[in-house]
Order: sequence, then C-alpha cells, then structure tokens
Amino acid sequence: MKKIVISTGGGDAPGLNAVIYAVVHACHLRGWEVYGSRSGYGGLLDPDELRRLTLADVDGIYATGGTILGSTNKGNPFSMPVENLAGEIQVVDISDKIIRNFKRMGFDCHIAIGGDGSLAIAQQFFEKGMSVIGVPKTIDNDLEATDRTFGFDTAVSTATEALDKLHSTAKSHDRVMVVEVMGRESGWIALYSGISGGADAIFLPEIPFDIDCLCNKISDNELHDKDYAIVVVAEGASARGGKVVSKGRGELGREEVILGGIGEWVAEQIRQRTKKDTRSLVLGHLQRGGSPTTFDRLLALRFGAAAVRLVEEGGYGRMVALSGSGMVSVPLIDAIKSRKKVDLTSDKVLTAREIGICLGD
Ligand code: F6P
Repeated sequence: MKKIVISTGGGDAPGLNAVIYAVVHACHLRGWEVYGSRSGYGGLLDPDELRRLTLADVDGIYATGGTILGSTNKGNPFSMPVENLAGEIQVVDISDKIIRNFKRMGFDCHIAIGGDGSLAIAQQFFEKGMSVIGVPKTIDNDLEATDRTFGFDTAVSTATEALDKLHSTAKSHDRVMVVEVMGRESGWIALYSGISGGADAIFLPEIPFDIDCLCNKISDNELHDKDYAIVVVAEGASARGGKVVSKGRGELGREEVILGGIGEWVAEQIRQRTKKDTRSLVLGHLQRGGSPTTFDRLLALRFGAAAVRLVEEGGYGRMVALSGSGMVSVPLIDAIKSRKKVDLTSDKVLTAREIGICLGD
C-alpha cells in the first residue's frame, strides 16, 4: 500500500486533469491511496486543502481543461513573501513545515505536475528529503529533457484556429493583423501556429527581428496582389537592439514578469512605416483554455500512468518524459537547467523560410 499526494503548479494547461485521472486509476489498480493537494502545496500546509481522490472524483475529467486541484504561479514555499502587521513585506521559508507535514501524514511520494518553476521547487524538496516525481506540463513547450510537454498541442491548435479566422477579415479590409501569442522566452507556439496558420511573418524570441524586413515583406505581398498580411509575434520576441516588453511582476509572490505588449508595438511600427491599416490582438489565456486535443490527452494520460510506474520502481527525483514516441524518465534536475529554445537549424524553421515566411532576420 502506498499513499500518494498529487499537485498541479504554475499556469494551468489543458491535460492536467488527464494526468490526475491516470494517476488515480493506476493507483487504484495497485490498491494505493491518492490525495490531491489544492493550489500547489496548499494541502501540505492546511488539511482542509487536501482531499482523497477516488475514481468517482475523476470520472470523465480526462477530457476537461483546467485542473480540479487548482493551481498557482506565486508563492514559492522556499521564499514566500508575506506582509507583516506593519505592512512590510518579509520573505519566509515554509519548506520545513511542508516536509514535516508530508512525513507526518504518511505520504510515500509527491507527484508534482508542473513547468520549470514548479519542477524547480519539486527538485528543491527532493534535495530536502521528499520523495518526488515530476510530470512535465506547460503550453510553452520550453522544458528540457522531454520532447513535448502536454498543453502545447492544444495551445497551438487554438492559435492556429484563430489565425485561420483572421485571414478572412484581414483580406476583406486589406489589413495587417498582428497576433501576439504566449510562450515566454521560447517561440514554439508562435512557430508552430504561424506555419500552420499561414502567417506572412513570425517573430520568435530566438531571433531578434528587424522591422524593415517585415515592411519589405508587406510591400512584396502587394506586388503579388496580396493586400493583407498576418503577423505572429511571440510575447517574448524583441526588436534587434530592443528589449522584451513586459507589464512588470504583477501579484505579490509571483516570480516571473508578466510579458505582453510587443504585438501592439509591432502593429504601430507597421502603421507608421507602411501606412497600412493595421490591427493587433493578444490571444492570451485563450491558449490555456478548453479541453485538451487528442494528442495532449493521450500524452497526459501516458505521463500519469508512467509516473505511477516510476513510483513503483522508486524512481524519486526523476521526471517522466517523452523521447521520440516512447515514455522514459530523466533526472528532474536535467529538465530545469535551462529553457528549451527553438532550434534555428530545425526543419520547421527551414520550412517557414522555404514557404516564404519572414522571420525578421
Ligand atoms: O507559462 C505559461 C504561460 O501561459 C506563459 O505562456 C505566459 O507568459 C504566462 O504563463 C502567463 O501567466 P499568468 O497566467 O500568470 O498571466
């Protein structure tokens, strides 16, 4: 008999519930108990935030977006900012309390589903003595050591569908439409959706862009009787010599800045330089919503089942991963060392160039 606690951390991604579904089923088959911790480590701080998960609790959830456990991307337990009575912000470390509760409650393993931030915290807990297994999640697909994270395929499908829809309105008005997509410092969502959605230009964080290159592309389109254009801009992209555009840190306890604004900046440059009617839109959290695609559902279910097999083998401090078409496990530390960037020599980048997409260089 084993007692497992499962948590979802960081920004939500379609497929989280499918992982939970697979973990609960695979544990049930083995006669093990699974508990869900609310909002990351909430259940290991407050028993009210912990709930036993039965087959009935997870019925049908594999097909739903979001997470039944709730999630948060603020409040790292190792450096948690709290406001004291005098209104000052103090940084406290509550990790010892979490470890104590984990042991006191008799858990054998924590299955942490997260992106680089949550998995880095999971690694710190592993180093402090907690038995941890990681499951890679993020729509950004920027985790090292796995060929794919779940959530990415759904986000790309949503972005591609949006681009498909923008074509008709852009064409009707002879307009340039600039679409800002998520992805932080990696251009995976921009590249995959831009190629699949017929973009004229795609700006990635990996290639600082030259705005003149885009304006030349728009003029070139016109020479070929195409009076509209679709431009995809990753939120982390920046102009050559320019800076990444952000909205600051946002809520207390949040570790990463909120990116956004580069799409409108690009649109304004196009307006000024080409005098073309130009509009921008930010797809934002639409990319995180909705039910997971078949690909993400299957990947998430496979990750969940593989995580339980890893518990059985005692593979603590490791993360389940996709390698080629198979499930493997890798040290958690390998997954968080750096963010996976688009390989500029990959065939996808070559494809973009060969079908005439401007990449800003
Ligand atoms: O990491 C996933 C992600 O959706 C990023 O693409 C984006 O920059 C960020 O999270 C947005 O975070 P929040 O939900 O806090 O606005």
